[in-house]
Amino acid sequence: MTGRSALMAAALEARLRAHAPYSHFLVGAALEASDGRVFTGCNVESSSYGLTVCAERTALFKAVSEGARGFVRIAVAADASALTPPCGACRQVLRDHCAELEVILCNPRGESKVYQLSELFPHPFHDQMLS
Ligand code: THU
Repeated sequence: MTGRSALMAAALEARLRAHAPYSHFLVGAALEASDGRVFTGCNVESSSYGLTVCAERTALFKAVSEGARGFVRIAVAADASALTPPCGACRQVLRDHCAELEVILCNPRGESKVYQLSELFPHPFHDQMLS
């Protein structure tokens, strides 16, 4: 199992690969799968702004596309003095793939805070077609 500090270090490193020429807001994520693999992601902005993909979804989509199923925790690192929780869209997409997930927020100043996805996103949309 990857420790919290190793996962935060991976997220902090991933943020340096962000493609953020418009916002200049660098975000990195590191997602630990149940099989032990760690998938990193960064935000990738588009000149058509709405097509931008957040760091969290980049990491999740990389993981799912590599066959990972089931996730333990995600670390999210942003270049901000305040800790930056995942946006609403990312919360829904994370929840689509795991009922419970530890969400570790961190920044380059060494600050961090741990949440459960269920407290950040208590009433998710569920696709009725799947139940
Ligand atoms: N961003 C993320 O990568 N994750 C979040 O949870 C919030 C926002 C990115 C999207 C965009 O590239 C930049 O941060 C500013 O919104």
